[in-house]
Amino acid sequence: MINKIQRFNGCNMAPMHILYGLTLILIGFSIIPVNCTWWFISQLPLHAVGAGVLCDNIPGLVGKQRRLCRMHPDVMVSLGEGAKMGVRECQHQFRHHRWNCSTLDRDSSVFGKVMLKVGSREAAFVYALSSAGVVHAITRACSKGELMKCGCDPRKDGESRDKKGWFKWGGCSDNAVKRFMKLECKCHGVSGACTIRTCWLAMQEFRRVGEYLKLKYNGATQVMMNQEGSSLIVANRNHKRPTRKDLVYLEHSPDYCINNLQIGSLGTAGRHCNKTSMGTDGCDIMCCGRGHDTKTVLKIEKCECKFHWCCHVNCKECSRWVDVHTCKGPNPIAPVNFRQRRRYI
Ligand SMILES: *[C@@H]1O[C@H](CO)[C@@H](O)[C@H](O)[C@H]1NC(C)=O
Ligand SMILES: *[C@@H]1O[C@H](CO)[C@@H](O)[C@H](O)[C@H]1NC(C)=O
Repeated sequence: MINKIQRFNGCNMAPMHILYGLTLILIGFSIIPVNCTWWFISQLPLHAVGAGVLCDNIPGLVGKQRRLCRMHPDVMVSLGEGAKMGVRECQHQFRHHRWNCSTLDRDSSVFGKVMLKVGSREAAFVYALSSAGVVHAITRACSKGELMKCGCDPRKDGESRDKKGWFKWGGCSDNAVKRFMKLECKCHGVSGACTIRTCWLAMQEFRRVGEYLKLKYNGATQVMMNQEGSSLIVANRNHKRPTRKDLVYLEHSPDYCINNLQIGSLGTAGRHCNKTSMGTDGCDIMCCGRGHDTKTVLKIEKCECKFHWCCHVNCKECSRWVDVHTCKGPNPIAPVNFRQRRRYI
C-alpha cells in the first residue's frame, strides 16, 4: 500500500532511466520496517564518506538497491538533500498541528519514533512528501547538470506562441514533479525588449508540492484488506474509491495528545498554542483540553530597516512584550480522558 503511495508521488512520473533506478531504491523502503531509511538518509553525511561505505550502512536496503546506491553516488547526494527537503516541508505543513512531524536527533527511526504507526495517515503523507522531495532534488540536480547520467530530454523541445510571439523552448527531463511545472521566460533584448527570449520549463517551489499533498492528506481514504487478503478495499462503503492520485491509510492515528512513544506520539505538553485561533493551533485543540500556561516575554525584532547604496541594510532593534501560551502537561493524578479526540491532528 505504501508502495502505491510512493509511486503516486512521482516515481512513475519520471521517465529518466536514472529515476528508474531510483524508483527501485525507493520502492524497497516501503517493504522494510519503517524504523529507518528516510530520516536516516536525510541525516547522512553524504559528502564525507565513500559511496561503498555509505551504501553498506543504510539500513534496510536489499542487494539490488545497494548496488544501485553504489553505482550512482552522485544521485545519493541529491537523494539525501531531497529527503531533508521533505522533512523540512513536512514540519512546515504541520507546524500548527498536534502531530508536527518532529524528528528526534540521533534516533535512526523515521521522524523519531513518531512514525511507528506504519499504516497511518501521517505515514502516508511522509512517504509521499519524502519521495516527492527526492524526485524534486534529483530533477533539479539533473537540470543543473550535476548528475553524470542525465542529459536533456529531446522530447522536451518545442515551439510555442503567446501574445509576445513565437518562441522555442527546451529543457531537461525535469517533468518528474510535472504537475508543478511552469514555463519561465527571460528576455534578452535591448533594455528588456523581448526581441530574443529564452524559455524553459521550470519546477515550481517545493512548497506547492507540500500544499498539494497536505490537501491529499486531509482527503485521505481509509482502506483495509479484503477477506481473501488479496487487495485493499475502502473501509467505509459510503466513501469514494480513491484514485491513483489519492493517499490511503490502514490504521487510525492516535490523537497525539499524550506522550506515548509506543504508539508514536510525543504529546503536546509544552507546545505553543494560539489563544485566539479556532484552528488546530488554538489552545483548546492543541492542548487537548488540559489548559495552557501563559508567559509574557520580551520579543526583540528588527525594525525600521533602511537600504543603503550599495549594498547593505541597517535595521533598528525594537522590542515589545508578547504573551506566549504553552500547553500544560497531563495531570499526573487524574489523567484526562481526551484520548478519543482523534480528529484534530
Ligand atoms: C514538535 O512537538 C514536539 C512535542 O510535541 C516538540 O518537542 C518540538 O519542539 C516540536 N517541533 C517543532 C518544530 O515545533
Ligand atoms: C493567532 O490566530 C489568529 C486567528 O487565527 C491570527 O490572526 C494570529 O495571527 C495568530 N497569532 C499568532 C501569534 O500566530
